[in-house]
Order: sequence, then structure tokens, then C-alpha cells
Amino acid sequence: MTTELPSLEARVKLYQIGQGFAALQFVQAAIDLKLPDALGDEPRGIDELAAAVGADPDALGRLLRALSCIGFFAEAGNGKFQHTELSSIIRSDAPWGAADVIRFGWMHVPMTVLEHTAEAVRTGEAAFPKVFGTNAQSYFVNDDPDAGAIFNRAMTANTLLLNNSPALVEALKLPPGETVMDVGGGHGQLLVQLLERYPAATGVLLELAQIVPGVDERLRAGGSLADRVELVAGDCRESVPGGANTYLYKHMMYMWDDDTVAQILRNTAEAADSGSRVVVVDMLLGADSPFEAVCTAVDLLMVLMGGGKRRSVQDFTALFEKAGLRYQGVTSIEGDQSVLLTAVVP
Ligand SMILES: C[S@@+](CC[C@H](N)C(=O)[O-])C[C@H]1O[C@@H](n2cnc3c(N)ncnc32)[C@H](O)[C@@H]1O
Repeated sequence: MTTELPSLEARVKLYQIGQGFAALQFVQAAIDLKLPDALGDEPRGIDELAAAVGADPDALGRLLRALSCIGFFAEAGNGKFQHTELSSIIRSDAPWGAADVIRFGWMHVPMTVLEHTAEAVRTGEAAFPKVFGTNAQSYFVNDDPDAGAIFNRAMTANTLLLNNSPALVEALKLPPGETVMDVGGGHGQLLVQLLERYPAATGVLLELAQIVPGVDERLRAGGSLADRVELVAGDCRESVPGGANTYLYKHMMYMWDDDTVAQILRNTAEAADSGSRVVVVDMLLGADSPFEAVCTAVDLLMVLMGGGKRRSVQDFTALFEKAGLRYQGVTSIEGDQSVLLTAVVP
């Protein structure tokens, strides 16, 4: 082992990672203080901002400088600060829900589970049930609805920010008269985009009963898309309703083990008419994309959660086959780590 001082690059990286917890807390603090909203479109001085958010000017200045070092806000000269693209997307009036991505990482559930990473890697056993006494899905739905609400909002944000849903919507191509079922579609963000893009298509959202009341208001009774959508409460591990031409599983399969995925696909094959399309949108193992580190972290998180994992195309092909579906091919989605794997019901 050399005793030479490590490179500047290695030392900087060490401290960036060592202080990673602080970066997340600082961004969350800015959100809690409503700083992104107080700043608005024009540069503002620290005193003015401190008065607007009810903060100590000196401490707020230090927070702003710390945040500007990680890309949130920038010094605009004369002691003023302005938004960067990154800080502007966490404004509460931004359409992306980017603040929910931060809040999900910051909240106690991932923080607590991640403390058990070494133990989970040593044993290969899921940490989540040991810590929370139940699995993650049940915990979010039944035990901690506030955390569940943050989870669901983060999933909605992921559809836009991580999955580049406009590109996904184009890739899905729904012909007139098509009925698409989004299984485990959360609050319906993707379904809204599909129905708006394809006005001659109809949709079904299949979700756990506890999630359905929170769906996007455009899909609810009286909403702009309500007459073209059916909201169904159910559990796809038990059964999947028939009647759709396209069954969509976006970021669902990585949560489950192979037997459960095969069972869900079998349920779909049994319910759907011959010729129906089954589309899995998921993160592949070892994909070459800027989001690779994010998806690799999710893969390790699945060890902690229990059961789920990222898969290869071959893994999915084998699962389609096991469920009696005919695999058709894989399409990549621009600006996303996920791919679209398509199979048909024979
Ligand atoms: C990781 S999230 C993905 C949500 C959405 N598809 C997306 O890509 O943003 C998984 C979703 O599956 C739903 N879910 C979990 N278990 C389910 C089940 N057994 N049947 C139907 N939906 C389920 C959850 O409520 C949650 O909304």
C-alpha cells in the first residue's frame, strides 16, 4: 500500500460521498423553507429572501452557498442568488414533482432501511420486514399512509423525470379503439398522458384498493378523461381483468421474485384475448445510460426490500415463455434507462 497522498480527484470524491447525507438534508431544508418559491424568476438578495421565508439571514446565506456548490441556486453577484435549472424544478409550481424525488430519498423509510445494508449483503436476507414488521408494499399502504403518499408522488415524478414518459408514450403507439390497462399504474400519470396523446383509446387502471382513491383528478368521476377510463381495485398477483388489448407493467416487475412475475404474466395470459399485447417497461441489468447508477442503487435496494431484482432480456424472455406468452422484442426509450419488452398472447 503506497503512503503517497491520494489524488485530488479521489480526495474530493471521498468528501463528496462522506457528506452526501448533508447534501440531501440541505436540499430538503430549502424545500421545507419554501426557498425555491421565494426566489422566483429574478435574483434576490439574502436579506430579502430571509425575510420572505422567515430565516436568519446569516444562516440562510450559508445554506444558499452550500446549495450552490451542488448545483441548486447560483450566486448572481451583488450578494444576490438566482435559480439554476436544478433548483427551479423543485419549485412547487413546477409540473415535474421533482421535490418529491428529494423528499422520498430524505424520509425515514429508506434512511432506516439503508442502515441495514451491510447486514443484508452479509446474509442476503431482506432488511425491510425485520425493521418494519411487514413488506414494503403493505407498510406503505396499510401502516404508514403518509410515507405511502410520498412514495406514490415520487413514483408519479419518476414517470416524467426518470422514465421520459413522453418518449415512452410515443413508443407505445395505441391505435384507435385500443384499450390499455396500466397494471400497478400508481396515481395514473402515465395513463393520463396516454389518453391525452391517443384520444381514440380507452384505459383501465388496475391498482391496490388503497391507492385508487388518490388517482389523478383527470381520471376521477367528473374529470376530463373519466369517460374513457375505468378504475379497478385489485391485486395482479391474484388475477388480472380481461378486456384490454395492451397490458402495461411499468416499473412493476423489478419489485418481485421470478415466481411472482411468472404468476402475474400467467394471470395476464389467461385473462387476455389472443393477440393482446403485454408490455413490460423495466430497468435492464448493465444498461449503458446516465441513470445506470440510480438503477443499480434500486437493484441493491431490492435486496433490502426483499424479492425484487433487475433482470436481463434473457431473464424476461424466459419468464414470458414460462407464462405462455410469445416474446416479440425489446425497444429502448430515449433518455431513460428502461426498455420496453413486448410479448403477445398466443
Ligand atoms: C414501483 S411502483 C410503480 C408505479 C408505476 N407503474 C410507475 O411506473 O410509476 C409499484 C406500483 O404497484 C402497485 N402494486 C403493488 N402491488 C400490487 C398488486 N399486487 N397489484 C396491483 N398493483 C400493485 C403499487 O401500489 C405501486 O403503485
